[in-house]
Amino acid sequence: MDNKLLLLTSKKQKLDSFRPLPPELVKNLDDWFKVELTYTSNAIEGNTLTRAETALVVEKGITVQGKSLTEHLEATNHVEALDYVKTLVGKERQDITEDDIMNIHRLILNKIEAGSAGRYRTQHARLTETDVVLPNPVKVPDLMQEFVKWLVSDNSDHIAKIAAAAHYKLVSIHPFSDGNGRTSRLLMNLLLMQEGYPPAIIRKEDRLAYINSLERAQKGNGLDDFYNLIYEAVDRSLDIYLEAIEPERISVAELSPEQRFYTTEEVAKLLKVDPESVRRYVRSGKLRAVRLGGKFIRIDRVDLNNFIEGLKR
Ligand SMILES: Nc1ncnc2c1ncn2[C@@H]1O[C@H](COP(=O)(O)OP(=O)(O)OP(=O)(O)O)[C@@H](O)[C@H]1O
Ligand SMILES: [Mg+2]
Repeated sequence: MDNKLLLLTSKKQKLDSFRPLPPELVKNLDDWFKVELTYTSNAIEGNTLTRAETALVVEKGITVQGKSLTEHLEATNHVEALDYVKTLVGKERQDITEDDIMNIHRLILNKIEAGSAGRYRTQHARLTETDVVLPNPVKVPDLMQEFVKWLVSDNSDHIAKIAAAAHYKLVSIHPFSDGNGRTSRLLMNLLLMQEGYPPAIIRKEDRLAYINSLERAQKGNGLDDFYNLIYEAVDRSLDIYLEAIEPERISVAELSPEQRFYTTEEVAKLLKVDPESVRRYVRSGKLRAVRLGGKFIRIDRVDLNNFIEGLKR
């Protein structure tokens, strides 16, 4: 098997060895993933809410000045769709139905496009950034039946591969007039969560690589790039869990260029400010961090670099 998949399996086994996880930790991680998935999945689609704004909308029900009703609805709808997906985590992949996928889509477009929420498209669809040709709408119902048949079939592949393939197959059928990406990402994450994996987050900065890898596959050049992108995303999520469980794993003394996450103390050291200033940057939303038990414990290298770039401007 692919080395990357073996690594995922071993990290997952390690995570399982800590179960049951402390309920407070689980709740904090759940809350963090909820905001992060909602922010990123909508940002990829063009929603302009920032992570901090998304958190305000979904956690506090606050509206953000200057942002459209649709952008707010996309945030709250995504949370509702994710909550629905979580109700399906208890069942097996073999029991997923076409209705489940329809329901996810209905929640995604609820109150935004009443006519097409939870319905297959009846029009030709085109992807804006590519000349890839999508299936004729007449074929969509059959293709979807076939897709679900594949989804629930015996398949001994690694779940990360099945989940990524499901995402690819669904966006390639493109059964809906809009919301295909968001629905597919949720379906992929349902499959991962059913097997005890944390959800994969496709970051905003991964958008181009993500779309390009889908297009490459569409044009017959294989799914390797797409698989790798998804495996990386699953790996990052596993790291977030593992580092939350054993934060002392990374030494504060040495900062290595390969390091993915930094603690508050490390960031303070790097920016030559005190840890309280770092916490302030995080509270104000200027710097994104994984917040656990009230402490900011992990800051993604990409976010840290963005923040440092921002300071220079
Ligand atoms: N060449 C391609 N082949 C297959 N799927 C693609 C290709 N390019 C993009 N996609 C998928 O189509 C999605 C866009 O479709 P659509 O607008 O229906 O979804 P969305 O949920 O509204 O938006 P988004 O997926 O961008 O959040 C992309 O996110 C991506 O998942
Ligand atoms: Mg769209």
